[in-house]
Amino acid sequence: MSETHSQDHAAATRRFPPSEELAGQANVGPDVYERAAQDRLGFWEDAARRLTWEKDWDEVLDWSNPPFAKWFVGGKLNVAYNCLDRHVEAGHGDQVAYHWEGEPGDTRTITYAELTAEVCKAANALLELGVQAGDRVAIYMPMIPETIIAMLACARIGAVHMVVFGGFSADALASRITDAGAVLVITADGGYRRGAPSALKPAVDDALGRTDSVRNVVVVKRTEQDVAWTEGRDLWWDDVVGRQSDQHTAEAFDAEHPLYIMYTSGTTAKPKGILHTSGGYLTQVAYTHWATFDLKPDTDVYWTAADVGWVTGHSYIVYGPLANRATSVMYEGTPDTPHKGRWWEIVQRYGVTILYTAPTTIRTFMKWGEDVPAGFDLSSLRLLGSVGEPINPEAWLWYHEHIGGGRCPIVDTWWQTETGAHMITPLPGVTNLKPGSAQTPFPGISAKVVDDEGKELPDDTTGLLVLTEPWPSMLRTIWGDDERYKETYWTRFGDMYFAGDGAKKDEDGDIWLLGRVDDVMNVSGHRISTTEVESALVAHHAVAEAAVVGASDPTTGQGIVAFVILRGAAEDSGEELVKELRLHVRREIGPIASPRQIMVVQELPKTRSGKIMRRLLRDVAENRELGDVTTLTDSSVMELIKEKLPSST
Ligand code: WT7
Repeated sequence: MSETHSQDHAAATRRFPPSEELAGQANVGPDVYERAAQDRLGFWEDAARRLTWEKDWDEVLDWSNPPFAKWFVGGKLNVAYNCLDRHVEAGHGDQVAYHWEGEPGDTRTITYAELTAEVCKAANALLELGVQAGDRVAIYMPMIPETIIAMLACARIGAVHMVVFGGFSADALASRITDAGAVLVITADGGYRRGAPSALKPAVDDALGRTDSVRNVVVVKRTEQDVAWTEGRDLWWDDVVGRQSDQHTAEAFDAEHPLYIMYTSGTTAKPKGILHTSGGYLTQVAYTHWATFDLKPDTDVYWTAADVGWVTGHSYIVYGPLANRATSVMYEGTPDTPHKGRWWEIVQRYGVTILYTAPTTIRTFMKWGEDVPAGFDLSSLRLLGSVGEPINPEAWLWYHEHIGGGRCPIVDTWWQTETGAHMITPLPGVTNLKPGSAQTPFPGISAKVVDDEGKELPDDTTGLLVLTEPWPSMLRTIWGDDERYKETYWTRFGDMYFAGDGAKKDEDGDIWLLGRVDDVMNVSGHRISTTEVESALVAHHAVAEAAVVGASDPTTGQGIVAFVILRGAAEDSGEELVKELRLHVRREIGPIASPRQIMVVQELPKTRSGKIMRRLLRDVAENRELGDVTTLTDSSVMELIKEKLPSST
């Protein structure tokens, strides 16, 4: 992606072998690689046996109709039972499942027994509302325990949850509800962010004005702010869930029963509904959570500092940790509310031992300075994780030293919404860590770096990352669009999964991820499609044409830079219009998609076939010398664009 800085280079050459202590007691040792290499399917079967199945499977993998995989064929289990009841039945009901902390400082401690009871009540409420197995339920919530309770209640009755990140707009929510055909929305009046209540219900009301599949809206009271109410449709969570019995017997579903849909950005404007199913998904999230983080359920306090509204939250706040009977921390708000040491205060208060977060956050902490974490006792930490984008070696070292006290291994986990669980990552008791590299395919996972023709490349050559074998937690399809599923992931290289990431292997065979190779940006670890932002911009009456690129950004990884051509009538609008366009994108997609910069230009660089040359725009946005302009229809276009720049970069 970007040039490595010299400090980064020095950092990248350092090595961190596991301590003897960790290597000696780690959940998995070097032998797992061997085991998985010799008998890949047998290895995944062992992983599946860590779960409780009502009925054993007849076949581990059915790959007779690629790329449509079936794992643990014929097996039956209940995902919520595996996350809850079985731990209570085994005598761990009093163990804390979540130490929840609200942004204003209110806290809740929820044990496995309490969580089980709450989920049973919510499941009974869903049934009373006529939700059936296979129905889709939209969840649009802040980071509160009810979000997890709602997800597990769906899983318990076989309904398919579709969580929409609370930062998404009414438009984004509406299109997802329509695409999924959701029959119910679970939301809250609002949540706390940056020290103030932030409303959610108005977006739901707005979205439902444009959709027709939803029968009811269940509203959790969190902020007590005023909400508009549609009689007959809207119900308070406290009423409808509160009056239910806390007994509910979980029914087992097929291993391939759909568990959830999670929308993610692709290369077109329409987000893809990634479908995950039950048995294979839970197998791999539970096993990776246990192996990658060396999770010890009796002693660890585990914290994924991410939002439940993303796949990281699904797999490593909810399903993985609960399946492994972890004690987790869940925090509602932003890291600097009310002060920049909030996270470290939480680590100190709960004695967090394992922390998992994104490089963008680590770089923000770097900016705030090491004095902030130094003011807290972080000695409980024993392992750190990173996810969402490549972690630059400098940030890796900072994390290692100033958060991990020089003693905690860092696992840099590469995976995607589509993969469901970790795919390339070091193992803490095994791997000689290399800052900046995700290093090794997880046992039972096969990854390669290939050229455009799908031929495996020699070491130290940049190419494309592919996954050559199906894996248990892989997406099963794009909701309602099998063709798009095939075409997006499985057409370019035939029988191999195309991840969309550039990569190279070094001389040790370690994999370095180099960022997206498609028109997808990675902003603070969130995937945003350039096309999606472009179509939001051209939907504005003042905009004739738009081109969007991701420009490297010291904090967020990439920042969104938009080039727009205005319609004739709007030609002379300046600052005000730019502000208005930024707002417009926030409204259409959400604050995360709001461009860092919008440049009004007369023309866009295009090839003779009419394709916008984003590469050149990226050069401009990153203040670089222009690359090759010879394929442009009119090379003077770039001069015109550059003239516009001084004020904007
Ligand atoms: C894309 C997937 C995985 C959950 C969060 C993001 C990038 C993710 C890493 C990493 C380098 C990474 C890739 C990938 N990515 N983790 N450790 N090193 N790149 O999920 O929104 O589906 O995005 O995030 O580009 O394709 P997502």
